Amino acid sequence: MSELGDSIARKIQYTPLTTETAEAIAQHLVKLGQPINTRLKYLNAGGYAIAYWMADKKWVFKITTDSSDAVSMMYLKMKHKRGFVKVKDVFQIKQQRTTFYGIIAEHLQELSPKDKDRWYNFAILTLPEFSLDGTEIPYDDPTQTSFEDYLEEVGVSGKWVKKFDAALKNSPALRERLKSRGIESCMKSMRIWAKGLDALGIKWFDLHDDNIMQHGREEVLMDLGLSNVGGRLQLPEIAVD
Ligand SMILES: Nc1ncnc2c1ncn2[C@@H]1O[C@H](COP(=O)(O)OP(=O)(O)O)[C@@H](O)[C@H]1O
Ligand SMILES: [Mg+2]
Repeated sequence: MSELGDSIARKIQYTPLTTETAEAIAQHLVKLGQPINTRLKYLNAGGYAIAYWMADKKWVFKITTDSSDAVSMMYLKMKHKRGFVKVKDVFQIKQQRTTFYGIIAEHLQELSPKDKDRWYNFAILTLPEFSLDGTEIPYDDPTQTSFEDYLEEVGVSGKWVKKFDAALKNSPALRERLKSRGIESCMKSMRIWAKGLDALGIKWFDLHDDNIMQHGREEVLMDLGLSNVGGRLQLPEIAVD
């Protein structure tokens, strides 16, 4: 096995890549300009994906088992949108009953700890306490639907932003809460993402600080997994010898 193939052969979400799969992926990366005698350096992993540095440090190679992430990335490759990662290549490779997806995307910077906190507060702490009309939800009232519930239902979308804006207008408490936690600025990115996701036809629900990174000062989404993607898109397939 080549150095490159060897560095790709890892276990992803319980399934190890076979030598043959890893080697076929290596050959594809070489076609895209990756030297065969350079190992891919491990960068990070989440529940579904492993990310590596490409030799050219501008790009990241991500391998995942989440097809919705791959299809979303393919849409972004065809038409890049503001507020989203730039994508160079997407492919699929079948290994027995598992399909792996390869994504080559621009390397992004981590959010600063302060910005991570800000998003944590926005996504996790603030929203569940407010109902769709901006009134506070008492802890013991399970009948009211919160913004978080609604986000889970409609995803990051124009629909959600509209509801949130209307509530903001009517609710000094919600405005105050947003301000006091320094998370007002989150809505700026939310609007940009909602617009992009609606335009791409992607229903995306997985909003949390690990799926947001930075391109310079721009906040960018780089993991569109766990989403519902409309339309039918056939991803290019790499054959295993
Ligand atoms: N474009 C990128 N630039 C830098 N790091 C990335 C990039 N894409 C993914 N990563 C890193 O890999 C981790 C896992 O990728 P992610 O797409 O979030 O997969 P998962 O679906 O497993 O959460 C991320 O949390 C991040 O640390
Ligand atoms: Mg993630």
